[in-house]
Amino acid sequence: MKSVIDIRDLSTQDIEKLLATALDIIADPGKYAQKCRGKKLATLFFEPSTRTRLSFEAAMYELGGNVLGVSEAQSSSASKGESVADTVRVVSCYADIIAMRHPKEGAPLVAAMNASVPVINAGDGGHNHPTQTLADLLTIWREKGRLDDLVIGLCGDLKFGRTVHSLIAAMSRYSNVKFVLISPEELRLPGYICKDVMEKNGMVYEETTDLVDAMPALDVLYMTRVQKERFFNEADYVRLKDSYILTPEKLKNARNDMCIMHPLPRVNEISVAVDKDPRAAYFRQVLNGKYMRMALIMKLLGVN
Ligand code: NCD
Repeated sequence: MKSVIDIRDLSTQDIEKLLATALDIIADPGKYAQKCRGKKLATLFFEPSTRTRLSFEAAMYELGGNVLGVSEAQSSSASKGESVADTVRVVSCYADIIAMRHPKEGAPLVAAMNASVPVINAGDGGHNHPTQTLADLLTIWREKGRLDDLVIGLCGDLKFGRTVHSLIAAMSRYSNVKFVLISPEELRLPGYICKDVMEKNGMVYEETTDLVDAMPALDVLYMTRVQKERFFNEADYVRLKDSYILTPEKLKNARNDMCIMHPLPRVNEISVAVDKDPRAAYFRQVLNGKYMRMALIMKLLGVN
């Protein structure tokens, strides 16, 4: 099968099947322990990452497969000036599937166009992060029991937060999903996503700077980190980094069944005092990411 660069590379039916596979893996992991035996996943991570890379690696190991990895641009030929296109042509000779993270928007697309094996985008700059979205969808499904009829608050860095961009694209498929976009003025959702994704699909959204005010209406609160590495100016980052800090106090008016998510890593956005709240789903979200990556790897390798 093809590559997954954007969450929209997967149809709604594909996503449903991946969710069903992930739930089956959770119910009976032993059944999947040899599914990718003899297959190799290459992780090409040209940007710092621990959890996403380890999640892909753990996913492949739990399927009985093997992993080849590059975790730093400096330790690869990219530091010698090799193009992404050449890198993946070479890696296609070694691996059956590639997961790539890159600081430049569009690099995984270039990779997919040049690789002879499927490429999974594991995050490209401030653009997209489809496998985080698969983790998010499974989390919403498991926590809320549905993917439609939801009010979802997205809070923090909506400008550079690629996980948010992919999640909005995915949710445009489901009915009666409303977004409340909570961010400082400077970190509002890019206009192209408001127009080309939300308005085009008739999605309802509102923008606000006030988290506490937005809280009572939310079924899901998705917190994000201010993306330090995408700022041109350190002073802007310092000024904006602690715009929103979720505390038990701020959750006072939240629904009892609201689900609190965060793609992690967390810096300051959620006080550790929130961790023991049963609504805090962000560590369960991590585990869901591994199951969805297992399901996706199997799908792209054509394993039943
Ligand atoms: C996110 C990412 O890399 O975009 N993390 C992740 O993949 N788990 C969010 C972030 O870095 O803040």
